[in-house]
Amino acid sequence: MKTVLDFARAKAEGRAISMVTCYDYTSARIVSASAIDCILVGDSVAMTMHGHDSTLAATRELMALHIESVKRGAPDKFIIGDMPFLAHRGSMDKTLDAVRTIMKAGAQAVKIEGIDGSDETIKHIVESGVPVMGHLGMTPQSVHQFGGFKVQSTQPEAKTLLLSQARRLEAAGAFALVLEAVPSEVATYVSKRLNIPTIGIGAGNGCSGQVLVFQDLLGLNQDFKPKFVRRFLDGFSLFKGALDAYDKEVKAGTFPGVSESYNMPTRHKEITQ
Ligand code: KIV
Repeated sequence: MKTVLDFARAKAEGRAISMVTCYDYTSARIVSASAIDCILVGDSVAMTMHGHDSTLAATRELMALHIESVKRGAPDKFIIGDMPFLAHRGSMDKTLDAVRTIMKAGAQAVKIEGIDGSDETIKHIVESGVPVMGHLGMTPQSVHQFGGFKVQSTQPEAKTLLLSQARRLEAAGAFALVLEAVPSEVATYVSKRLNIPTIGIGAGNGCSGQVLVFQDLLGLNQDFKPKFVRRFLDGFSLFKGALDAYDKEVKAGTFPGVSESYNMPTRHKEITQ
């Protein structure tokens, strides 16, 4: 996926979009070599890479630092950068400053959580030439409003409300939309009625694509296994196993071996022994 046009094309052709979060150069090199369509440098970076208990700690400087390193590792992937907590809720000048920071760091689009009170802001950002990905459902920046990371849109009338929010995002010019932690039926209902693609996380398989957090899908975070995560690897055990093997060899004196050591040129051997 190279541009926003590819998202529209994928939806029109019924091709599922794969997205993964990524936060650093080394991981980005791996994603870059994979078939994954696009990368989200999410504000989940505050949790996965910095150990905070919510995404509220992400700042625009932090986002820029991580976007820059991901861009260096995956220069050919489409990168979406998250607008951090409250970055789009002040003056338009401040909002555009934050957008500029994210885009200059290497993103091709920004992602903004929620729509209430943000219709005009999103419209203005899009009209300024910056593609916006929306994000509805369980928007993690509102964790305190929700009283925790809880599934949203579970009431019978919720699908109508979610659809109207999604349509407002579409009307404001968003090119795609993340639907997070909503019942599968609701996400499917909304996805079928939109022209723009939806990317689900904990939203069932009726969306136009899926996103997972890098650490979750690779099983690097042993303590975090919500219902919607599938671990495609037991990365934690694999990494730990390798570290323990290294530790063992160091302590046994078998690492480094001869092939992993440098030697003095033969002519100096006598001097050094
Ligand atoms: O920050 C993030 O990683 C996200 C995804 C979970 C969609 O917003």
